[in-house]
Amino acid sequence: MDSLNSNAAKDLVASDPIAQDLIARDRASVWHPFTQAGLERDPIAVASARGATLVLEDGREIIDAVSSWWTSLHGHGEPALVEAMVRQAQTLDHVMFAGTTHRPAVELAERLTALAPGDLSRAFYSDNGSTAVEVALKIALQAHQRTGHPERTVFVALEGSYHGDTFGAMAVGDPDPFFAPFQQFLFEVRRVPADAGALEAALEDLGPRAAGVIMEPLVQGAAGMWMHGADFVRAARESTSRRGLYLLADEVMTGFGRTGSLFACEQAGVAPDLLCLAKGLTGGMTPMSVTLATEELFDLFLSNERAHAFFHGHSFTAHAIGCAVALASLDLVIERNVPRVLDEVGARIEERLLAELRTGRYLKLRRTGGIVAFDLADPKSQGYLADRTLELRRLAIDHGVLLRPLGSTVYAMPPACLADAELSKVVDAMVQLSES
Ligand SMILES: Cc1ncc(COP(=O)(O)O)c(C=O)c1O
Repeated sequence: MDSLNSNAAKDLVASDPIAQDLIARDRASVWHPFTQAGLERDPIAVASARGATLVLEDGREIIDAVSSWWTSLHGHGEPALVEAMVRQAQTLDHVMFAGTTHRPAVELAERLTALAPGDLSRAFYSDNGSTAVEVALKIALQAHQRTGHPERTVFVALEGSYHGDTFGAMAVGDPDPFFAPFQQFLFEVRRVPADAGALEAALEDLGPRAAGVIMEPLVQGAAGMWMHGADFVRAARESTSRRGLYLLADEVMTGFGRTGSLFACEQAGVAPDLLCLAKGLTGGMTPMSVTLATEELFDLFLSNERAHAFFHGHSFTAHAIGCAVALASLDLVIERNVPRVLDEVGARIEERLLAELRTGRYLKLRRTGGIVAFDLADPKSQGYLADRTLELRRLAIDHGVLLRPLGSTVYAMPPACLADAELSKVVDAMVQLSES
């Protein structure tokens, strides 16, 4: 069944007993992320997914134009990934990773370190973007202690940055609006705009207390798809290198082709000291993340004393199924040239939006690779927590597309499999939001 217009869709939801029963049970037992249950209407009950399409319990089909929180790289249910998952589950599902190893983890580490910029030669596995960031922060801090600089404790981070929801990741993220309740528990961070001069001044001012710089290179996702140039990434590398500080690149969102290159850092010709990857690492099929580190950092932890080890790990570190799926996804990324495909998809969306958005209804149409965004000119939509956000999401669903505007920012970040007809629908829905 195709997506329906607004009234028909509401009638269908109301009359579908299976969807209604599931939603009622959800309401009674589930606590959803980033959701104000007191305000937000019933969740959309999803029954299955294939390619760019989500099939709802009530039979409607909608296009996943945001790749399910930026994870689904090739599209849902990609057969090569399903096959890798099943094969691995039948061979070795999981084994604790302290004191053991397995082929998928070793092969994935080899592949990633070969593809990553610079001499990132060590892979430390965890299971989501936030933990990949925690690992990077902790490695950097402990490395400074190991080199006799325990005073190097303050990271410089960007205004608007988002690095995840665990405590370290929250600390380096911009507190507004997500982390305000926790601010008093977060460690000190110096926050600057994405400007080389401001970054340099902050590092200068921190002097011996500076630990390093953490950034989402090229695109700051949750901030509202803020985009900065490769020059700034290069400037951050130069400023940190000159002072012997670490550059932490959080490519949890930008990795695996989203920006038109395999990693965003490549476009700046920059090699970070620590690179955080998640989301698209497994093509979005299983939770999995990795923090890549230089050999120099790894060597700093070598010692005859056990206490000098990097004491961090999770139950599912280097999950064998996740690693196998990630390997299959990497094959597809290379075979299909996913960075180029996403860049082309993004270019087509941008071109259509340029032609169809009406002057005065939008601001700052922008694109990096497969990520296309604009801001609504409507003042009622400003701010991440603007009441209109919920209405905008509803409107997009009514047009058969899953969009999740970030405050006044409407954006698309579809999977690489998006077909022409689907692309048209995504553009139509984005244009409708600008007209609402
Ligand atoms: C740049 C960036 N870093 C870290 C994270 C956190 O990832 P996760 O939600 O998997 O913990 C996100 C999530 O959106 C992100 O965009």
